[in-house]
Amino acid sequence: AQRIAILGAMPEEIQLLESQMSKIKTKTVLGFQFKTGKLNGKKIVLTETGIGKVNAAVVTTLIIKEFHPKSVIFTGIAGGISESLRQGDIVIGNRLTYHDYGRLTNEGLSTNATRNPITKQLNPLYFSSDSLLVLQALNAAKEVRLQKMSAEASQPNISVGTIVTGDTFVTSSTAVGHFEKTLQASATEMEGAAVAQVCYQQHIPFLIIRSISDKANEKASVDFQTFKKIASDNSATLVKEILKQL
Ligand code: ADE
Repeated sequence: AQRIAILGAMPEEIQLLESQMSKIKTKTVLGFQFKTGKLNGKKIVLTETGIGKVNAAVVTTLIIKEFHPKSVIFTGIAGGISESLRQGDIVIGNRLTYHDYGRLTNEGLSTNATRNPITKQLNPLYFSSDSLLVLQALNAAKEVRLQKMSAEASQPNISVGTIVTGDTFVTSSTAVGHFEKTLQASATEMEGAAVAQVCYQQHIPFLIIRSISDKANEKASVDFQTFKKIASDNSATLVKEILKQL
């Protein structure tokens, strides 16, 4: 059977999955370490991409070329855009787009679609996660037990939404309002749409899962440090549960 490829940008984002894998073997390609093994009975290959769109695109390309995965799942943390999201909540990204790609004028940036360099066709403005994987994630969401942010807090919420990607750590409530209004964004991060674009252009099903570490506002840098571990683990815990559904 083909492996499931699982990616995360930072060590914290893949640590829980790696610690629970069995039969781990490491294959190094162009300096990147790809860990193959089993998790919840499924054959996987797990890698840390590094932060940002370029690193995510490089590692997504390498993992497709080297391992021919059945699908690619990205796990990690994000800044929450939707008012209702709290730290530890999860967004199942059903659509991915860039917030920093397009035409820049005096009026600001108008986000445009990218172009597929292989077919020369315009890509969609939003890349869609595989619809079956989204359903399987929703089924996994009913089973999973996540960490609460505090003893008094209720169980974290899991919702489906649009994720916007750019090469910036967002710490601006003005930008948050803009992403929500112009792109209908639920959350923002720095890799998802790059993974999505590579997978789209190579016809590989993908799914982006993110847990909220901060609200991408003026407090984001402090919140990110406080909540990155617990949010990383919540996202990884859902991905582990998703593997059972595959
Ligand atoms: N990942 C987690 N929080 C983020 C933020 N505020 N901006 C970009 N990526 C993030």
